[in-house]
Amino acid sequence: MQNLSVAELLEGKHILQEIHIKGWVKTFRSNRFIALNDGSTLNNIQCVIDFEQTTESVLKKITTGAAIEIKGILVESQGKGQSVEIQVSEILILGESNPDEYPIQPKKHSMEFLRENAHLRIRTNTFSAVMRVRSALSFAIHQYFVNNGFYYFHAPIITGSDAEGAGEMFSVSTLDKKNPPLNEKGEVDYKKDFFGKETNLTVSGQLEAETYAMALGKVYTFGPTFRAENSNTSRHLAEFWMVEPEVAFNDLDANMDLSEDFIKYILNYILENCTDDLEFLEQRLLQEEKSKPAAERSEMALREKLKFVIDNNFKRVTYTEAIEILKNSKPNKKKKFKFPIHEWGADLQSEHERFLVEKHFKSPVILFDYPANIKAFYMRLNDDGKTVRAMDVLFPGIGEIVGGSQREERLDVLKEKIKALDIDEKELWWYLDLRKFGTAVHSGFGLGFERMVQFATGMSNIRDVIPFPRTPQNAEF
Ligand code: 4AD
Ligand code: MG
Repeated sequence: MQNLSVAELLEGKHILQEIHIKGWVKTFRSNRFIALNDGSTLNNIQCVIDFEQTTESVLKKITTGAAIEIKGILVESQGKGQSVEIQVSEILILGESNPDEYPIQPKKHSMEFLRENAHLRIRTNTFSAVMRVRSALSFAIHQYFVNNGFYYFHAPIITGSDAEGAGEMFSVSTLDKKNPPLNEKGEVDYKKDFFGKETNLTVSGQLEAETYAMALGKVYTFGPTFRAENSNTSRHLAEFWMVEPEVAFNDLDANMDLSEDFIKYILNYILENCTDDLEFLEQRLLQEEKSKPAAERSEMALREKLKFVIDNNFKRVTYTEAIEILKNSKPNKKKKFKFPIHEWGADLQSEHERFLVEKHFKSPVILFDYPANIKAFYMRLNDDGKTVRAMDVLFPGIGEIVGGSQREERLDVLKEKIKALDIDEKELWWYLDLRKFGTAVHSGFGLGFERMVQFATGMSNIRDVIPFPRTPQNAEF
């Protein structure tokens, strides 16, 4: 007798063989048909039991959510809706599930309700499909980089530096909160803390990744990052995963090429390998969109959107060009933007990014050469003295999905920038060393992994594409 998964059984290669399977009951109808799922695929296998041969006490325990073990024979199905089914010879209840208490009933639940039950929501079709696609995307990311000669680099999670300089960090400390040691100035004395200095959870592995790129050539990080920004939006998490390639000798153009090639590869991977899940998510999205006003509905179905990104060149546009387009746009003139665009230098909000992508260019856009003063300290200054070699990849429905840049490799320019921003040079001594010893042009970017999963699965809220979302006022589980 063989131990096979539902996915393997549904391939139909084991017809008339004796098989053995374990899983959870999705539904049980007419005291005869069990829809069984084991997570290996979206699809269930139908198990047909012999009512006469099954005791009353066992029948009562075949309820949604129960774990069961089945032995039987795989046969071609008599009924509609499935090609094969199992004729059950033996059934064992492994773990009961009280139907009066089990929250995940075979009916439609609201996303809010499912978030409150994040430990069980993975048992729904929607979440199992999303998380299988998430897993496939992770694999594709590693595969892309390995195929292209990158090394996987593990950036530290606890760090003493603020890569983005935005001050949105979670502190890491073992000091007594009620009675911390103080220095002469009356401030908390971090010299007495665990690490002997102030430390935080990392907001990005970039600075450390740069050190490795300057020896291994091509590296990437793929790990959790943390931001204490109080943004309660459908695109922000306090803990999210970021993919950060960093490449020695790449300039900004090569960096843009890399981001585009990489994104197309991973989307193509799931189109080829997650057919059932994407088909299901596409239908789910169509249903969801029916409840939206016509103007907000997407013109393309989910897989069409993925193909569109794969088949079309991303539009490359300078920040300066984008500001001109936005200044003269209808929503700006009609005062429809929450943040109207008056002049060069304005920081772009997601409403502007989405206008450019969804209404103006109707394609993914790479904006580059941003004003220096709205971007991080490490970006390479252009000859105009006011813009930096920054790039953001903007996606439909998402806005910014990638942020990156060519890095400032000139020691004197970088030092001046650090001084102007009032950053303590001593804190960055090791980062500056890279510019002293064999400095070279180099570039990289960060892809917000959950935003990519959102795009790939059509889920409208970022809280629904990570197993246990961390957001302001919420760290359950
Ligand atoms: O644009 P960001 O802040 O760039 C960096 O951190 C660079 N150090 C990356 C690099 O060059 N190596 O963040 C990169 C991406 C964003 O484009 C966005 O997709 C995602 O990370 N991101 C978030 N995703 C979810 N929740 C948040 N709070 C996010 N903040 C940024
Ligand atoms: Mg950014």
